[in-house]
Amino acid sequence: MARPKIALIGAGQIGGTLAHLAAIKELGDVVLFDIAEGTPQGKSLDIAQSGPSEGFDAVMKGTNDYADIAGADVCIVTAGVPRKPGMSRDDLLGINLKVMKSVGEGIKAHAPKAFVICITNPLDAMVWALREFSGLPHNMVVGMAGVLDSARFRHFLSVEFNVSMRDVTAFVLGGHGDTMVPLTRYSTVAGIPLPDLVQMGWTTQERLDAIVQRTRDGGAEIVGLLKTGSAFYAPATSAIEMAEAFLKDQKRLLPCAAYVKGAYGLDGMYVGVPTIIGAGGIERVVDIKLNAAEQAMMDKSIDAVKGLVAACKGIDPSLA
Ligand code: APR
Repeated sequence: MARPKIALIGAGQIGGTLAHLAAIKELGDVVLFDIAEGTPQGKSLDIAQSGPSEGFDAVMKGTNDYADIAGADVCIVTAGVPRKPGMSRDDLLGINLKVMKSVGEGIKAHAPKAFVICITNPLDAMVWALREFSGLPHNMVVGMAGVLDSARFRHFLSVEFNVSMRDVTAFVLGGHGDTMVPLTRYSTVAGIPLPDLVQMGWTTQERLDAIVQRTRDGGAEIVGLLKTGSAFYAPATSAIEMAEAFLKDQKRLLPCAAYVKGAYGLDGMYVGVPTIIGAGGIERVVDIKLNAAEQAMMDKSIDAVKGLVAACKGIDPSLA
């Protein structure tokens, strides 16, 4: 049987890391696309030359031609510009919206059957725009945010409790920005919810609140340290987890920026919610019960995403 084909649109920091991870995990053959000449070709060759030591046979190809992504099973989109210190994700809107137009048209023309994972920020607006420009079914276009935000939360919690990260589960919903919604009630250590762990004296409410805030600021903390760009290792790993769930029909329950119509009282918009990912793409949106305080946080986050989508429509009238 032919290997799956994975197209990576954008060969920058995240794109290169995605290519390396996809090869090491032998998820399929990899096409790395970028408008910068030489970058995707150079990174592909470099990664291919790690194959003998690592022991993988994935074919790596770098290209500046969309025709090379033809028939891709998965497309992961990181094309665009990342944040610099002092910038919010929303500051990237105007530039990256134009990039989504060209990427969406490229995918529509050459890989219309792909499962598309968008990473470009501001995430919730960009995944919506990418879906509009590509015209692909909503269940096949999804944004990577919740897996990363939850992984950050899980990491901080595992350090706080001195337990394995594998035993910490966490849910972060809502938009991928300052208004994201880390749900402590639905986050656990091996099934023990965080509020119970506070009562058991494993941490205090104040320390938990600080971890929640650090999670919300997780991306900015790394931008502030790197100074020249934004995080790339954990974002790439998170998207690979989603791609693997699709390629292997794993039916994983992962928080993603998915198109929500009906659940959460929404009438059709992209926002971070729990989803099931399998061979059918986003196979289900899981409508969990929120209490009043959680719903208020979610509503604020939804309003922030709506504001970004409205700004996109203002910039590009074809989206209105
Ligand atoms: N088509 C294809 N590639 C493009 C285009 C385009 N129209 N415009 C820019 N690119 C490429 C750049 O040439 C660059 O190689 O996108 C790549 C982006 O890489 P980096 O600048 O290294 O950014 P990265 O850290 O990978 O982040 C990419 O993901 O997390 C988000 O906020 C982040 O929006 C940013 C995106």
